[in-house]
Amino acid sequence: MSRKKLIAANWKMHKTPAETRAFFATFLPLVNQHTRDEIVVCPAAVCISAAVESTAGSHIRVGAQNMHHENQGAFTGEISADMIVASGCTHVILGHSERRQYFGETDESVNKKIKSALEAGLTPIVCVGELLEERENGKTEGVLRRHCQGAFSGFNTEHVLNMAIAYEPVWAIGTGKTATPQIVAEAHAFIRKEAEAEFGKEAANKLRILYGGSVKPENAAALMEEPEIDGALVGGASLDPASFAVIVKY
Ligand code: 13P
Repeated sequence: MSRKKLIAANWKMHKTPAETRAFFATFLPLVNQHTRDEIVVCPAAVCISAAVESTAGSHIRVGAQNMHHENQGAFTGEISADMIVASGCTHVILGHSERRQYFGETDESVNKKIKSALEAGLTPIVCVGELLEERENGKTEGVLRRHCQGAFSGFNTEHVLNMAIAYEPVWAIGTGKTATPQIVAEAHAFIRKEAEAEFGKEAANKLRILYGGSVKPENAAALMEEPEIDGALVGGASLDPASFAVIVKY
């Protein structure tokens, strides 16, 4: 079972197009020999073009942070999977906890977005994960099951192999409080079991499950050594090119 790791940067609402170009001018020389892992950077939508231009000819891929499930229409302020693809993206982050918390996304809306992303040929990175309160009340598995059902329902084996799951416990996001490799491994094993129940063992074994939540240069190696962890979704520490390069090369 060898799953190529996927190391993805989620820049959230940071950086202008000029700052995006400046990032890649420093970052690309640091990682140009590094093909062991798949590397994806997800800037704000207005910086996608700058990122795609800056990474042209390199092995770095560009992703979006969100999209609407319809391909076009009267949805002011939204962007679609087709637009993202036409702009040069290969990936899209869907169902991030910040989208669920602040923008009312639900398992149903995330499911529709995954469908649309897959139809457009994008690789969705679907975020799942519990709140601190849910973990403390023993509800982690129930939450993960519900999020996984949202991610998996209506899809077949081929679909699931074209997506990645990112386990992001909400209490570890932006808090500096990283989940231990053991906590992450347990959650990933649970998610893989859910995938197995839906798609069978072979497909579940191929599904990539990333970890996100305060991944830093100092803890990346310990996390990535854990066989259940197939990569990282990095927020704050991906904004600095030197710091993200250390994580990529853990
Ligand atoms: P931090 O790495 O800043 O904790 O953010 C994690 C995250 O939300 C990535 O999507």
